[in-house]
Amino acid sequence: MDDFKTAEARARELRRELAHHNHRYYVLDSPEISDIQYDTLMRELQGLEEQHPSLQTPDSPTQRVGGKAADEFGQVVHRVPMLSLANLFEDEGLVEFDERVRKLLGQPAVTYVCEPKLDGLAIALRFEKGIFVQGATRGDGTTGEDVTGNLRTIRSLPMELFPLDGVKVPAVLEVRGEVFIRKADFQKLNEKREEEGEPLFANPRNAAAGSLRQLDPKETAARPLSVYLYECVPTEGVPAFKSHIEKLEYLKSLGLPINRYVRAEGIDGVRQAYDASLKGRHELPFEVDGMVVKVDDEDQRKRLGQVSKSPRWAVAYKFPPEEESTEVLDIGIQVGRTGALTPVAHLKPVKVGGVMVARATLHNEDELRRKDVRKGDTVFVRRAGDVIPEIVSTVLSKRPESSQPFEFPKHCPVCGAAAVKDEDGAVIRCTGASCPAQLVEKIRHFASRIAMDIEGLGDKLAAQLVATGTVKTFADLYALTKQKLLTLERMGDKSADNLLESLEHSKGTTQRRFLYALGIRHVGDATAKALAEGFPDVHQLFKASLEDISRVKDVGPVMAQVIHAFFQEPQNREAILALLNAGVSPAPPQVSTGGPFVGKTVVLTGSMTGMNRDQAKEEVERRGGKVAGSVSRKTDFVVAGDDAGSKLKKAQELGVRILDEQAFLQLLQTDARG
Ligand code: IVH
Repeated sequence: MDDFKTAEARARELRRELAHHNHRYYVLDSPEISDIQYDTLMRELQGLEEQHPSLQTPDSPTQRVGGKAADEFGQVVHRVPMLSLANLFEDEGLVEFDERVRKLLGQPAVTYVCEPKLDGLAIALRFEKGIFVQGATRGDGTTGEDVTGNLRTIRSLPMELFPLDGVKVPAVLEVRGEVFIRKADFQKLNEKREEEGEPLFANPRNAAAGSLRQLDPKETAARPLSVYLYECVPTEGVPAFKSHIEKLEYLKSLGLPINRYVRAEGIDGVRQAYDASLKGRHELPFEVDGMVVKVDDEDQRKRLGQVSKSPRWAVAYKFPPEEESTEVLDIGIQVGRTGALTPVAHLKPVKVGGVMVARATLHNEDELRRKDVRKGDTVFVRRAGDVIPEIVSTVLSKRPESSQPFEFPKHCPVCGAAAVKDEDGAVIRCTGASCPAQLVEKIRHFASRIAMDIEGLGDKLAAQLVATGTVKTFADLYALTKQKLLTLERMGDKSADNLLESLEHSKGTTQRRFLYALGIRHVGDATAKALAEGFPDVHQLFKASLEDISRVKDVGPVMAQVIHAFFQEPQNREAILALLNAGVSPAPPQVSTGGPFVGKTVVLTGSMTGMNRDQAKEEVERRGGKVAGSVSRKTDFVVAGDDAGSKLKKAQELGVRILDEQAFLQLLQTDARG
């Protein structure tokens, strides 16, 4: 056989294998091989495709997530246009809507379906022979952007339909729905961005939209998107539905995620559903900005038709905005760990959506200028995504005459160093190498739980240590004495002892924690882990070239440059050497080669008394195990703490080995420290 034929056959085999593992990973959430093994297969395929470019087909997994970033998105023309919904805000509008529907149909009462109106962005998906082949944004309703690669990163979206028994997979299925971010995921995402010194997303919608439109699917994969489907376009092999509910249940029977819905009889039914969902909106795990009311009967829908870009058979009944007006007492500038200057409005406290709000972020200079918020202004404040309060608008008629636009400082308000615009132009940063405000934030980060884990070193103490000039560098922390500590306000004998003990303990940290603690921009915990694996000794990073650093898993070119520059900067090198001199000696990552956790998948559930979830995860990973989120046949152990619920039950059903806290600790002991 010639070389090409052999390569072709091997490529086919690799593609099949990779597709299988993708499916295990994304759909079943139960991988059979490690990420490293997966990467090895992928690299082999990439190698073959490089040698024989004709083997590189558009549907090759090398072209998917983890493949190369697209330069721009392709266009997708929607066979059936994607409509939008007319909004209504008051009961009056609902009465008109219902009247029009009934009149056009000549019906005394109509059955509706009510669904939460998710605050995300609309997408259209295409499955052929049950396989997900394409996904696009709504765009202008006629033409959208091809975001197939990014949609593939969404765990809740099956790459292959999973029909219930007896349900036939149609030749072609075109479905529509909404991509969104759950509140908890949004919060985590923003926390991570804060840790990495990136600007925060204002609300879940922005985060979802921005993530789906990332050019690099790897970036999207790091952002936890979810999806719910709510429509289906008629195609061959898809049954003709009598009602919307029948359609939703059909989608569900194919293994697609659908949201909750209620059937509502007539306008009174809709009113009841609206009141209930308005009351319960904060209890939902995702942001909703209203309720979608749809005529249930498909035949009635056809008869109603559409006007311009929205259907006559559906409407978005919006929730009243959770906004309040208040006064801007002052505008201040907050200095973050990476020097980012964030304008913050100090407000006369006001209750918004059940929570007292006294400060609102103005994000950055551009945003501040666009909104032109000034001291003394009366403004409307909104809680965006239930997280960061935001200023929606200024009431110009109430602006005091003497008011002046806010001047964004050219210098850091804390240390006076020049403030300079970032490469991407959005963020202005303080350039002061020894800016005390940055230092406080850096120390807080250095001491934080997933960094050096120095208990007792919180915000207030960090601020005190910096303000009194006691601590100017990380290494100064290790020169603290009891005597010095006792001169600080509110520092007792016991607290001083505990802090010193905690500092001493932190010297035996790991390379991963150490690298994370340094607070290098863009380097979160996951990157620190990868860096530690590539460079188990920090001296290696001093010597590493840009190319060496780019070779680390998931480190893109921008990140590599930042990391490289960090370790080349003499001040940083000095700070690191001072830490090593002070006795900090980060342990290189070690993976055990034997032991009960090597290559095993562990699910943690319930709460333990001796350690939290993160600590347990770290212990397992250190011993060569992997922690998964859900229980399947591939799970080796379920560690069940107190109040373990459905995962424990599932483990029992599947006969997975269950460990209580005691047994888990014992097993950890047998493999003392991987
Ligand atoms: S139905 C013609 N159902 O709202 C049918 N849309 O303002 C149009 N949306 O573009 C969509 N949740 O992005 C429908 N349960 C839901 C929805 C929903 C959110 C969004 C969707 C749409 C926009 C219309």
